[in-house]
Parts: sequence; C-alpha cells; structure tokens
Amino acid sequence: MADPVTARGVIAYKPGEPGVIEDFLIPAPGPGEALVRILASGVCHTDLSAKNGVFGTDYFPFLLGHEGAGIVQAIGEGVDNVVEGDSVILAWRAPCGLCRFCSVGKPHLCSASLNAKQKMTTMDGTVLTPILGIGTFCTHTLVHSRQCIKVDKDLPPEQMSLIGCGVMTGVGAALYTAGVEPGQSVAVVGCGGVGDSVIMGAKLAGATTIIAVDIDPRKLEWAKGFGATHTVNPNDGDPVAAIKGITGGYGVNASFEAVGRAETLMTAIWARDLAGTCVIIGVADQKATIELPIAKFFDVGGTVRTSWYGDCLPTRDFPLLAAWYEQGQLDLDSVVTRVIPLEQAEEAFHAMERGETLRSVIRL
Ligand SMILES: NC(=O)c1ccc[n+]([C@@H]2O[C@H](COP(=O)([O-])OP(=O)(O)OC[C@H]3O[C@@H](n4cnc5c(N)ncnc54)[C@H](O)[C@@H]3O)[C@@H](O)[C@H]2O)c1
Ligand SMILES: [Zn+2]
Ligand SMILES: [Zn+2]
Repeated sequence: MADPVTARGVIAYKPGEPGVIEDFLIPAPGPGEALVRILASGVCHTDLSAKNGVFGTDYFPFLLGHEGAGIVQAIGEGVDNVVEGDSVILAWRAPCGLCRFCSVGKPHLCSASLNAKQKMTTMDGTVLTPILGIGTFCTHTLVHSRQCIKVDKDLPPEQMSLIGCGVMTGVGAALYTAGVEPGQSVAVVGCGGVGDSVIMGAKLAGATTIIAVDIDPRKLEWAKGFGATHTVNPNDGDPVAAIKGITGGYGVNASFEAVGRAETLMTAIWARDLAGTCVIIGVADQKATIELPIAKFFDVGGTVRTSWYGDCLPTRDFPLLAAWYEQGQLDLDSVVTRVIPLEQAEEAFHAMERGETLRSVIRL
C-alpha cells in the first residue's frame, strides 16, 4: 500500500475559535477515490457557519472549505471518470445512482451522495470532518472520484472554484428550484456571493425585474453590476412594501432568501405575488424559527421551497457554467473580490463579516 500524503490545511477544532493551519495526513486513494491537489478555494459563508458551530458540535475538528478547484494527483482502483492531471471542480453532490431518489430518476435529491471512504486525520490520528465531504482550505484533499468534475485546463482555478458551491447554488436556485421564466420578477434577499449568483441566474433566465435586497449599500451597488434592476435597503423601511411598490403593488413571481435568518425569510415569503415561489437558500441557525399566519399564507398560495446546491447536477451543470463564463455570460471575475494565501483564511471570514467581499479566494 502506498504511503499517506502529508498535506497542509486549515483545521477548526472548537466552535467559534480561529482555524489553525497545520499539517494533516491523507491516505493514498483507495478504490473509487481521488487525491486532488487544490489550486483555489472560495470562502463560502457555510464554512464560517460550520466553524461557529451552526451544524452542532459533534463533527469537530473540521477541515474547512468546500468550494474548490484543482488537479487530480492520483486515483485509486476502478476510477474511470478522471485521470491524473485532469483539471477539476469539486462537487459536494455526487449522486450514488442507487438510493431511493437516484433510482427513480431524481439524482439531484440523492440521499447517499458519494464521498471518500477513507478518513483524513490530524498528524496524531484524530479523524477530520471535511466540510460537506470535501475540505478545500488545504494543499490536497481526498474525495470520491465522482466528486471530481472535469473542466478545461485553460480556465482560471479561482473563478472555477466558485462554481463548486456559491455560484452553482445561486444560479441553480434561479434556473432549477424556482424555474424563473422570461419576463418574470424576482427579489433576492441577501446579496453576497450566493445572492448575486441568483441575480445572474435570474438574468440568464430572462427575468426583467430583479430586485436586490441587502442592508449593506456596497452590496446593493455590486448587485446592480450583476443585473439587479432595482435595489431595496431594509434599513430604509419595510422591504416588503418597497418590493410591492416596485412591482405595481403585487409582489414578485419568485423570491430568494440568501442570508439564513428568520426575518429575511419572512421578507421573502411575503414579497411574493399570488402563486409566487419563495426559495430558501440561507442556512439558518439550529434554533431559528418563524411563525406563519396560516390563512394569509394560504391566501397568497404558491410555493415555499428549500434549495440545496441549486438542485444542480454537477456533471451537467459545472461544464455549463464554465462555458457560460468562457462566453462572457456569467461574470465570475466580479465575484472574486480578493485572492489570498492560505494564511489569510481566518481574515477572509472577518472580511466577509464586515461585508468587504463577495468571495475571497484562497490560492494554493
Ligand atoms: N443552500 C445551499 O446549498 C447553500 C450553498 C451555499 C451557501 N448557502 C448559504 O447561503 C447564505 C449566503 O451565503 P454567502 O456566501 O452569499 O454569504 P455572504 O455573507 O457573502 O452574504 C450574505 C449577505 O446577506 C446580507 N445580509 C445580512 N443580514 C441581512 C438582512 N437582515 N437583510 C438583508 N440582507 C442581509 C449581507 O449584507 C451579505 O451581503 C449563507 O447562509 C450560506 O450558508 C447555502
Ligand atoms: Zn443517490
Ligand atoms: Zn458553500
């Protein structure tokens, strides 16, 4: 058996504490597994949430990061979808093909998504939990080979990494979860990396009224660059009233919650027109709840749906988004606010909290 690889990455040991950069061990890829040399990793809000204990405390220590692009360095027995040297984007959904959803033709709902079977460990043997089954704030990681989606070698890894989570989630939420149609109106509550990707997706789908909602004026300005036709700052007054005002008193056909808070979900729910769709993307705290007046909710009708990963199929959608980027239809360059070394990962979380970035991208 081949020797394990010593990699370097950001490990979060305790909720709320800064991540620590240190060496860790990766076993040589076993059957169906791939060792990937990470080139770039986006810093998504979900990493910060996990590090802060939003997913509970059972899974610490975490190997942070789940939005990555890199090069396949070695493959295990039986791997047939990638070879050594392939440029890949890593996916946190790799449909198993066998579960109760995959077996009825709904692989985007796969309940047994594939991950590497072997565990990465700290140097003293403690098992690491790679965020969303990937771990990308690191020089190398071990994944199931089906989590590797091949893309053109010439495409920049910084921009490609974002397709691995935030951009795919936002664009997919507009195209697949909400199914935005030409001429429709949408409101996007929370215009960070994910929300701005919803805006890009809504524009691609032909929406003609795209309302960006954020408490940070800088985010509203950036949202316009991605295709927002109107902006609403909830600090200036009731955002639902403002959205209705923009849409002739009716509300929008599709609303998106991309913050992860109860009050922003309420905005998204009540900003809809009759029969409108509300899509929940934000990952809320375990304790967050909302109260719904049932009669009013019934009167509006329509749908409230969650969207994990924009209901995407990475094998279908990563190459599509990469092609849209190449053709100038998806402005990933503007989502990359900063390119930083691994040592600045912790600072990138603070920059995110201060609202200075859409995405910091760690270049390895
Ligand atoms: N469902 C999924 O598959 C999925 C995938 C990726 C990220 N997420 C989640 O999506 C959310 C957004 O992620 P991100 O990386 O874009 O985060 P981000 O921090 O970059 O953006 C969040 C935005 O929300 C804004 N905001 C905060 N409070 C607000 C309020 N009260 N009203 C309006 N706007 C407000 C902030 O100013 C910021 O622009 C997070 O909860 C993240 O965990 C979910
Ligand atoms: Zn499955
Ligand atoms: Zn993410």
